[in-house]
Amino acid sequence: MTLTPQAASERMREICARAPVMPVLVIHDAAHARPLAEALIAGGLPVLEVTLRTPAALAAIEAMAGLPGAVVGAGTLLTPEDVRAARAAGAEFGVSPGATDRLLEACAEEGLPLLPGAATAGEVMGLLERGHDMVKFFPAEAAGGAAMLRALAGPLPQVRFCPTGGIGPDNARDYLALPNVACVGGSWVAPPGPIAAGDWAGIEARARQAVRLRPARPEEGGR
Ligand code: 3PG
Repeated sequence: MTLTPQAASERMREICARAPVMPVLVIHDAAHARPLAEALIAGGLPVLEVTLRTPAALAAIEAMAGLPGAVVGAGTLLTPEDVRAARAAGAEFGVSPGATDRLLEACAEEGLPLLPGAATAGEVMGLLERGHDMVKFFPAEAAGGAAMLRALAGPLPQVRFCPTGGIGPDNARDYLALPNVACVGGSWVAPPGPIAAGDWAGIEARARQAVRLRPARPEEGGR
């Protein structure tokens, strides 16, 4: 099933609207996958990015994919082989640190919605030419942070971003307050220590705190 970039972007916009934070997960033991996902979902974060950086990653995606309420994606997609493996494991979407023609074409062919990475105006323009207007801004802090995204909103107001890389509880609000930011990604909600220790209650509490990072919009009765 092929997927147009426009349809992929639309689906990614829907997914990114589900929660203010997309946990970026590095899972070393597939047995951790289900309790970890359940904790994050219970805490209010249903959209999960499992990075393909460990031997356990695909099995983790398989274990999480059927969980009620979960929207599980595969991160660190670099090659067409990664795309096919992610799809076969049950990933609903993909995330990549940058974008290449081969990767974009593989996602279209496999029907996998992609959140492609970009760090400069030129890279964003290249994605726009291909039909992608929902983009991962990576590495967010190193590539200019919230100030860079505020600047990009001038000439490229049609693009929505999920900034990732160096974001945590101290700076997430700066990004989430921007009109061109749909959500932020980050590993701080589920870092290696609590995952290895099986501290699911602690991770659920971190998720609850992350949900509260989204600034209240005026129409929601906020400031
Ligand atoms: C990544 O790909 O590792 C993500 O950007 C997560 O970055 P972080 O660990 O700085 O949150």
